[in-house]
Amino acid sequence: MSIQIPFNRQNLFGSELSYIQDAYARNKVAGDGFYTSWCQKYMEDTFEFQKVLLTTSGTHAIEMAMLLIDLKQDDEVILPSYTFVSTANAVILRGAKPVFVDIRPDTLNLNEELIEQAITPRTKAIMPVHYAGIACDMDAIMNIAEKHRLWVVEDAAQAINSTYKGRYLGGIGHLGCYSFHETKNVSMGEGGALVINDDSLIQRAEIIREKGTNRSRFFRGEVDKYTWVDMGSSFLPSDINAAVLKTQLEHLKDIQRQRNHLYSRYSYELESLTKYGVRSTTIPKDCSGNSHMFYLLLDSEKARSAYIDYMKQKGVLVVFHYVPLHSSNFAKTLGTTIDLPVTQAISEQLVRLPIFYSLTEDDQSRIIELTLDFFNKIQ
Ligand SMILES: Cc1ncc(COP(=O)(O)O)c(C=O)c1O
Repeated sequence: MSIQIPFNRQNLFGSELSYIQDAYARNKVAGDGFYTSWCQKYMEDTFEFQKVLLTTSGTHAIEMAMLLIDLKQDDEVILPSYTFVSTANAVILRGAKPVFVDIRPDTLNLNEELIEQAITPRTKAIMPVHYAGIACDMDAIMNIAEKHRLWVVEDAAQAINSTYKGRYLGGIGHLGCYSFHETKNVSMGEGGALVINDDSLIQRAEIIREKGTNRSRFFRGEVDKYTWVDMGSSFLPSDINAAVLKTQLEHLKDIQRQRNHLYSRYSYELESLTKYGVRSTTIPKDCSGNSHMFYLLLDSEKARSAYIDYMKQKGVLVVFHYVPLHSSNFAKTLGTTIDLPVTQAISEQLVRLPIFYSLTEDDQSRIIELTLDFFNKIQ
């Protein structure tokens, strides 16, 4: 059967195309135009971030962060293996070494109790990933970082609008990285943002993002010509993409309301599956999530494959991820052999259900009904 309910779907809210037209009318479609500034200011005001720079992707925000902390050959960065490849690639690209640490079985986030034993004299940074938009234990991580004088770069790619003890994720470590890829709650197609919480990094961040030049200062009239002043690359998105992001940010409350509604409904309707050993997200107290993901953890890889196949036969796409980075063929070429039992187990059990703004109540009811049928009648 063909897929009738996709895993994800994009949504136009209405003003995107007129904003793009307006960007052309302003005769400024490269980066740092009206729309880029608007989005950055919106994030600074709404999430109380010191400084935000839009980037071409979440991947590039992390790569910029690694440049900013001066990550060098043979330095080490502590991060989870249960994450998207970009978190580790940014480390490898600097010639440094990713040191994978196991995750917690409840939040699937970096296990803060295992971090200190992974620290060596070469450790330069910790990169907590707020998986599914749920916060890592940031107090514990910041205390460890302070004690060992390490940078903290939050991979908040999935975490827009989520909080830890009342603070928005991405604004707690020295740097925070967002993704606005089409799979995220708020999207500009491809894009991201770097959040800079340390004053001393702001000017250099602007330079790195502008191909190693001081063009940002030139545009502000602070220097009379711009020139090559540092290393850098083209991490600055077009104002056309930022025009799309403006619409999405203007609808953030609406997007979150809808996602939270879908998330609560899944939680409530599928709660009975605990009798089959199936569980879902844990949100620690003092944290709020953003309903970025709704996942189920099944009791075996075999059961998960059977469930995915069953749903596909019925026209519904449910998906799994990640193949743990430490067990990938590429990691083996780096000589990274390590045993991460929780990461391994979770990667065999987790399956994600469709959750997106335009998912209708009827379609969600069908997903719920099929899921209950699979466990109650078929499995
Ligand atoms: C945890 C995590 N880090 C980094 C990224 C990279 O973001 P982007 O796709 O915008 O480059 C993603 C996106 O999927 C992600 O989920």
